[in-house]
Amino acid sequence: MTTFWSWFVTIVTLANILGCLWLIRWTAKPRAGEAPVGETTGHTWDEGTLADLNNPMPRWWLWMFYGTIAFGLIYLTLYPGLGNYRGLLGWTQEGQWEREMEVAEQRYGPIFAAYAERSVRDLARDREALRVGRSLFASYCSQCHGSDAQGGMGFPNLTDGVWQWGGEPEQIMTTLMRGRQAVMPALGAVLGDDLDAVVEYVMSLSGAVPEPSDPAGRTAYMRACVACHGPEGKGNPLLGAPDLTNGVWLYGGSAGVIRQTIVQGRNGVMPAFADFLGEDRLHVLTAYVYSLSLDNGL
Ligand code: HEC
Ligand code: HEC
Repeated sequence: MTTFWSWFVTIVTLANILGCLWLIRWTAKPRAGEAPVGETTGHTWDEGTLADLNNPMPRWWLWMFYGTIAFGLIYLTLYPGLGNYRGLLGWTQEGQWEREMEVAEQRYGPIFAAYAERSVRDLARDREALRVGRSLFASYCSQCHGSDAQGGMGFPNLTDGVWQWGGEPEQIMTTLMRGRQAVMPALGAVLGDDLDAVVEYVMSLSGAVPEPSDPAGRTAYMRACVACHGPEGKGNPLLGAPDLTNGVWLYGGSAGVIRQTIVQGRNGVMPAFADFLGEDRLHVLTAYVYSLSLDNGL
């Protein structure tokens, strides 16, 4: 925060607290011309059955207000809250987070280190390891891939045995450690008049429509798409180019969505987790993800 905003926040905060103090004292003071305590103020309703009495605020109520003001001032002295002032205790959010992480590391570090000694294939058959993996998945992955790991539009289903970047343990581990960035370029302009024919040809690869008799789509595919998706449309895990023949779609397989994919391009990003979760945790997560498409009954 710049010095100006620091002072601004400090002054506004303190002025508010002192303002409250002043307001309480001002309203609690009896004033000239007021009805005596306990008497009616003259406001009556329902032919006198209801009346407004001039009663003082209860003491405990008043003290509660003073209490909150005192609490606020003490809190703001001890903890950060007034602009750049750090507070007497030197507490920081990062500090607390680091301490908690340290405690967690001491507690769980050895467990993960022991799992790291074992192979992914082995862990993928270990009920306890998978339970740990599932809970990591729920914390760090489910917001994108869904709690059942079945993904959604743009977020791959991890349970179907279909892999964009490869489903071997080493490939999954690489995906988690380094993240993945898919580059499907926008090719509408390149295809020009052949766009519709290519859309139809792509749909025919998975059998959604019969192979078109006009070779224009196939020819344009061989020119503009083959480098990444391969001559048979089987894709390339090194580039993350999906298999277009299996009927499994990340974005959708209707003519409209395929056309949109080609015209706008797609850039799916899987974030890297190496720095955040560390190798040992990712090893267990890899085993969990690997297990999802195994039909091993666990
Ligand atoms: C530079 C490599 C590259 C080229 C060239 C390329 N693609 Fe792709 N394509 C990809 C990648 C990578 C993805 C995955 C995008 C993602 O995950 O966000 C993709 C995704 C797609 C998808 C979405 C699949 C799904 O599951 O929803 C379709 C459809 C597609 N490409 C068709 C084509 C067609 C047709 C062409 C040629 C006109 C083409 N691509 C050219 C790399 C390429
Ligand atoms: C911010 C959203 C997000 C989070 C969080 C996230 N992912 Fe992903 N993940 C993606 C996207 C998007 C892709 C697809 C990238 C692409 O288009 O190729 C992906 C791809 C993957 C793949 C590759 C799938 C394949 O077919 O090859 C795996 C495996 C994966 N994620 C596992 C995980 C795990 C495990 C976690 C938790 C540690 C996680 N993801 C967290 C968005 C996310």
